[in-house]
Amino acid sequence: MSSFVYRLFQTTNADKLRELGSRRILRRALTAKDLVAIGLGTMIGGGIFTTVGTAVRGAGPAVIISYLLAGATSFFAALCYAELGAMVPVAGSAYTYAYATMGKLFAWIIGFALIFEYGISAAPVAQQFSAAIQDILKSLGMVLPGWAQQSNFIMHGAWWQFWQWDLLHSQYDVVSALFILLLSVLLSIGIRETATTNNIFVVLKIGALLVFIVAGMFLVHAFNFHNFNPKGWGALQPFGGAAESSQPYGIIAISAWVFFAYIGFDAATTTAEECKNPQRDVPLGVIGALAIGTVLYCATALVLVGSGPWQNVPIKNPLVHALAPLHIPLLSWIITLGVLAGTTSVALASLLGQSRIFYVMARDKMLPPVIAKVHPRFKTPIVTTLGTGFAVALLALIVPLVNLLNLVNIGTLIAFSVVCAGVLYLRKRNPDMPRSFRVPFSPWFPLAGIVSSLFLAIFGLSRATWVWFGGALIVGLLFFFAYGFRESDPENVVPVIEPEGLQEVT
Ligand code: ALA
Repeated sequence: MSSFVYRLFQTTNADKLRELGSRRILRRALTAKDLVAIGLGTMIGGGIFTTVGTAVRGAGPAVIISYLLAGATSFFAALCYAELGAMVPVAGSAYTYAYATMGKLFAWIIGFALIFEYGISAAPVAQQFSAAIQDILKSLGMVLPGWAQQSNFIMHGAWWQFWQWDLLHSQYDVVSALFILLLSVLLSIGIRETATTNNIFVVLKIGALLVFIVAGMFLVHAFNFHNFNPKGWGALQPFGGAAESSQPYGIIAISAWVFFAYIGFDAATTTAEECKNPQRDVPLGVIGALAIGTVLYCATALVLVGSGPWQNVPIKNPLVHALAPLHIPLLSWIITLGVLAGTTSVALASLLGQSRIFYVMARDKMLPPVIAKVHPRFKTPIVTTLGTGFAVALLALIVPLVNLLNLVNIGTLIAFSVVCAGVLYLRKRNPDMPRSFRVPFSPWFPLAGIVSSLFLAIFGLSRATWVWFGGALIVGLLFFFAYGFRESDPENVVPVIEPEGLQEVT
């Protein structure tokens, strides 16, 4: 093998990582129950509270099938995350697993895809927070000026023709940008969610969904489920058609759309080092969070569809609107509280996750080391935290929600398929390495994960989304060959993932 190809696929030594990781350990305090709470904390957010409206409009009652498909795709990926997470139990993420299993190039690609799953995903979540805050302000008689309510950047030409940008007539989501900046400052001075605050957020948002489900059941009528699949499966054309507009339609495109709501269940795998019994708890935590989330999502969607004609479900604030016939104002306050709790906890976790990933990549010299700079007093990776915050705030300020959601979905689906491929690859390359959790029915389950993720990405997302993702990937790869490929040395990775200031979890 030429040295170029060898270096491209050179891996870190998973055994060494395990050994080093087990020497330096954070307190082993977390149980499976805590991991489920962590997963739900990162998973349940704006997705179910807000994007469900667009989903119902695009699939009618068959939206349930869309949720189940997205849940099944996540399930296969969850099993694969669990196998790798229990096998390479150093704090980290799919990036670390990919580096230990498939080498530099794939690690870079997955690190790149994770930017969409973590960094960019904070932007739509912040916009959903902003919409909820603006609703509250509105109920108090305060309305922001039109230009500051939501993001819609107007360009009369291609994006790079900056002289065609219409700054004056564009709209900017000011609240979401300020929200991201505030969270980033909090994270950079070392304030992060503790297990207790996470639990409070989880109780608030799950409580709000349960209140919706129970109250909404009084409004459910069987005839709302007639004409179950009004929009069919969608155009089923590769790279587009169905999801090209801001209103995707058909079961498959809507499944790719609601996939956003599932993102985050894998958060539990990043805490493997802090588990009392990672081999048992990581799989239980990941799958438990996913199972609870799926049941809640399907129940919410069922009640929403059943409580009135699906054509009347609004895109904005669908849950509050559905309960309006009950005439109980308290219900809408509870749901709004759930949205605020959900979006805040998800945005915090996403921003923290992104700065950790950049931090690890910079430690591995995949990115310039300055990115891993730790603040001497706060002991946090200040450069990556603030840098990520500014970039995400800018996205939230100008890019419309639909575009952001599609980008997040494509990045995460690609990341999932690489993780599933990692399991297959490592089983072949390193069959004797101890695996305390094994994906059952291998190779079929990992293959199902790869196929379902790619299927949703190819048939559910638009051409424009692929073009943006592909363009960004090319830029990312150019950067990799210019820097990370030359500088990083898999023989010398440091498994200490987090700077001191970010270690406290409980
Ligand atoms: N799953 C997360 C949410 O729904 C991203 O907000």
